[in-house]
Amino acid sequence: MIRITYGVGARPNFIKTAPVIEAIRRRPAFSQSIVHTGQHYDPALSEDILEDLGFPHPDRFLGVGSGTHAEQTGRVLIEFERVLLEDTPDLVVVSGDVNSTLGCALASAKLGIPVAHIEAGLRSFDWTMPEEINRVVTDRLSQYLFTHSPEAATNLAAEGIDGDRVHYVGNTMIDSLRRLAPAAHAREAWKGLRLPEYGYVLVTLHRPRNVDDPARVTAVADALIRLAGRAPVVFPVHPRTRSRLAGSGDLDRLADAGVRCLEPAGYLDFLSLQWGAGAVLTDSGGIQEEASVIGVPCYTLRRSTERPITVERGTNVLLGEDLSALAQVECSDVRTPAAIPLWDGHAGERVAVVLEEAYGSGVGRAQG
Ligand code: UD1
Repeated sequence: MIRITYGVGARPNFIKTAPVIEAIRRRPAFSQSIVHTGQHYDPALSEDILEDLGFPHPDRFLGVGSGTHAEQTGRVLIEFERVLLEDTPDLVVVSGDVNSTLGCALASAKLGIPVAHIEAGLRSFDWTMPEEINRVVTDRLSQYLFTHSPEAATNLAAEGIDGDRVHYVGNTMIDSLRRLAPAAHAREAWKGLRLPEYGYVLVTLHRPRNVDDPARVTAVADALIRLAGRAPVVFPVHPRTRSRLAGSGDLDRLADAGVRCLEPAGYLDFLSLQWGAGAVLTDSGGIQEEASVIGVPCYTLRRSTERPITVERGTNVLLGEDLSALAQVECSDVRTPAAIPLWDGHAGERVAVVLEEAYGSGVGRAQG
């Protein structure tokens, strides 16, 4: 029996990992155990998402919570190592680029346990982003690098990573989207909020560069208020953004201007809101991908993206950081879904096939 341990901790990890867990579950040669680090602990960012996904109940919960990057990553490292020493899995699977991803990968690599990284090779080339540091280091520590677009392999090759480790499997986040699309669409979440279909802008913002600096967060709020003068704006607010906006007094200003500041939405509700939106404005990574597949125009409030394929396909506009660029945001009722190769709902299955072949041929414990 090959024993796999998953290290997950934040909202996007659950969405990206669920399809792999499901594909491995169908293979009797493997057993699996799920460790939730507790990086995200608010029900809206954790339990509600897990429930929407039908995610198996985690076997362990580490409760690392919030803190500085060093505190949070350090706690993951210490607590996840304890689990590994007890459970001695054959393989650790991590996904994405959050602090939990890095902490789990580092603890495993130091113990000589192979690491598989889902969503390897993405690069924004912006070293001020904590996620970019997490991506580069996690890829360097990983033995199995599962990529979702061709440029990821190019990025990894440029960093000297052996091509034998890289497996182009497609996008597991889009597996989750495709599986739950009918349920999400049927919710018609915009109706419950009395928003006009294709006539509102769906906003999410939580990147440190947009929300941590008080002057910037106030400028962002001003820009959203101007936007709300042109179209209804619905804004499920991430906890870190909420605390910054509340601290600067901008939350009340937004509400007074008619911006619908909601609690973070569940997974199905959020997908549903993307379907009904006229445009999406975000600084998230995964939402650029989801919006591209749904075909709703996406505008990204960042100076770089690690998802250039979404821009190349014309479904995502990189606005940069100048807030006057929000003038470009326009609602549209035209849907132009991007058909991106291997974003087809079967990426998790392809991950399982690679692991099955690798472990079946006895190379599972090999370390580079
Ligand atoms: C993290 C990821 C980011 C990802 C995002 C998805 C890192 C470096 N960042 O950002 O890449 O896009 O998750 O949501 O890992 N907080 C709560 N409740 C929670 C979690 C966080 O209130 O359940 C608040 C705390 O004040 C915390 C702050 O949000 O200090 C930041 O949380 P953290 O997990 O460090 O990063 P995110 O901003 O969520």
